[in-house]
Amino acid sequence: MEIFNYIQSRAKNEIEPVMEEIIPRDGKPEEVYKLIWDFLDRGGKRFRPVLTVLSCEAVGGNKKEALYPAVAIELFHNFTLIHDDIEDNSQMRRGKPCLHVEYGVPLAINAGDGLYNFVWNALLNADIPDDKKIKTGKILSNAYLEVLKGQATEIGWEHNDVFDITEDDYIKMIGGKTGALIGASCETGAYIGGADEKTVKVFREFGQAIGLSFQIQDDILNITGDFEKYKKEILGDLTEGKRTLMIIKTLERATPDEKELIINTLKEHTDDNDKLNKIVALMKKYGAIDYAKQKAYGIIKNAKEELINNTDDNDARNKLLEIADFFLTREL
Ligand code: IPE
Ligand code: IPE
Ligand code: MG
Ligand code: MG
Repeated sequence: MEIFNYIQSRAKNEIEPVMEEIIPRDGKPEEVYKLIWDFLDRGGKRFRPVLTVLSCEAVGGNKKEALYPAVAIELFHNFTLIHDDIEDNSQMRRGKPCLHVEYGVPLAINAGDGLYNFVWNALLNADIPDDKKIKTGKILSNAYLEVLKGQATEIGWEHNDVFDITEDDYIKMIGGKTGALIGASCETGAYIGGADEKTVKVFREFGQAIGLSFQIQDDILNITGDFEKYKKEILGDLTEGKRTLMIIKTLERATPDEKELIINTLKEHTDDNDKLNKIVALMKKYGAIDYAKQKAYGIIKNAKEELINNTDDNDARNKLLEIADFFLTREL
């Protein structure tokens, strides 16, 4: 928890004031700004911009140069969440009804678009030379292409009733939808901090890797977590028909009858907890939750070793290592 408090305090003191500066709080029309601020004020962990600032500091850079790009990344993340909740037909986000549930789909899409606009606005306002802005823009644009490809892969599985998915397919998909932006968070900080190309790559790969474990843990919390902390609907992934690592493992180990039950329930998009808990019981029977925990642990262990072996030892880098561990133990 100490590291989570650290993340929240840096976000509050360094990131949020820049957000206030870029997005007018009482901007008009309300149909844009009220929705955006409703969403931003719900908080969120805000670890991505803190990864950016820490990566900049870890390579000896001036953190002030990383602040606006860090905000761009947090806004990017928020934009994807609003659209993702529509794509996934989700109900709860950050402890409240999703934006499209509260305000309707059209205005929620539009508010997401609004945040997307402020991503580039934040970058254009950064206190860095133009060539660095362009290069940072390329990092973000490349990352976002990977995010939307990952999203499309996952949506395609659901849309086309695809269930013969391997662990590798899943890792590649989450590497896009979740890993790419976390990778870009670290890459951006190291690049703006003036690191050489090889070091920038080390930071990107670290972020990309810990992003995988972040997503695996998120999928675990969706099954075993507590709504008060997780703040999204528990078992929602099963209603949404998500092919998580736990589903893939269970399908691999289940009998034909059990497999049929799982697939039919996932296709049904039901929120009937009795039906969903039958899937959870099978996940437990086949050790799929423990398998996912081990997988997340192994990825973090390797990612930390790579960072330790290829970068200088300093306070900021050690905070990055602590954040990696937090991804495994977090309940929120
Ligand atoms: C949620 O990200 C989306 C995933 C990649 C699982 P976060 O868990 O970082 O969302 P907030 O910002 O804290 O709400
Ligand atoms: C989140 O994926 C990835 C993006 C928002 C791009 P999920 O759909 O798995 O995350 P949650 O559970 O809605 O936060
Ligand atoms: Mg979702
Ligand atoms: Mg999704």
